[in-house]
Amino acid sequence: MRKPVIAGNWKMHKTSAEALAFFRALKASKETKDVETVICAPFTALPALVEAAKDSGIGIGAQNMHWEEKGAFTGEISPVMLKDLGVQYVILGHSERRSYFAETDETVNKKVHAAFAHELIPIICVGETLEEREAGQTKQVVGQQVEKALAGLSSEQVKRVIIAYEPVWAIGSGKASTADDAQEVIGFIRKMVANQYDQQVANEVRIQYGGSVKPDNIGAFLDQPDIDGALVGGASLEPESFDRLVTAS
Ligand code: G3P
Repeated sequence: MRKPVIAGNWKMHKTSAEALAFFRALKASKETKDVETVICAPFTALPALVEAAKDSGIGIGAQNMHWEEKGAFTGEISPVMLKDLGVQYVILGHSERRSYFAETDETVNKKVHAAFAHELIPIICVGETLEEREAGQTKQVVGQQVEKALAGLSSEQVKRVIIAYEPVWAIGSGKASTADDAQEVIGFIRKMVANQYDQQVANEVRIQYGGSVKPDNIGAFLDQPDIDGALVGGASLEPESFDRLVTAS
């Protein structure tokens, strides 16, 4: 039985003070055995959030990191630094990182290994562009992203990975995938994992859907047999909306 993960990706939103105000305004209990709740915030808000989230049942994540532990990488943040703050999760390979910051399947894979080396749970994002979807290449593109991201991991590590299927055309567009289409791609990812590892690994790995998820449509995604939660951008920014996403799960 897989526990669904509802993760907010705040992207480049909220100062530390705004992040704390969000936390104070949350009402719904996040200490539930049925859902794992995570907020992935900008680096600058992480120290305040880690402190505020203690004993709240909410996990805190970053949105990116470098794979090296330290060195001459101006402007970068290492897994050691995230671990030092008490961060538990890290989003890797988000499509905005891939398209604006030249993230590749190879760098995503290095970061996934670095996350495990420092006991961070990677939330690995994959997804096709509209052009690729219209050309009938969705499974090929997503399959390749998943395969390369997971390369070299042990079965035990793959079981602990969270994969977020986020079709690029659905992100921030207000046009979510249908639940059936998301299920088809996510079911395909799970089969791939079964073929490359084994059925037990495939049964345990959690795969979220992301892209214009709102309190009103999250239920349809979670009703699907292979969808284990959501990675939510815009609708995770307001406490009331975040509360509704969690209680709807
Ligand atoms: O990582 C979550 C994100 O890319 C989806 O954003 O605003 O469409 O929920 P949004």
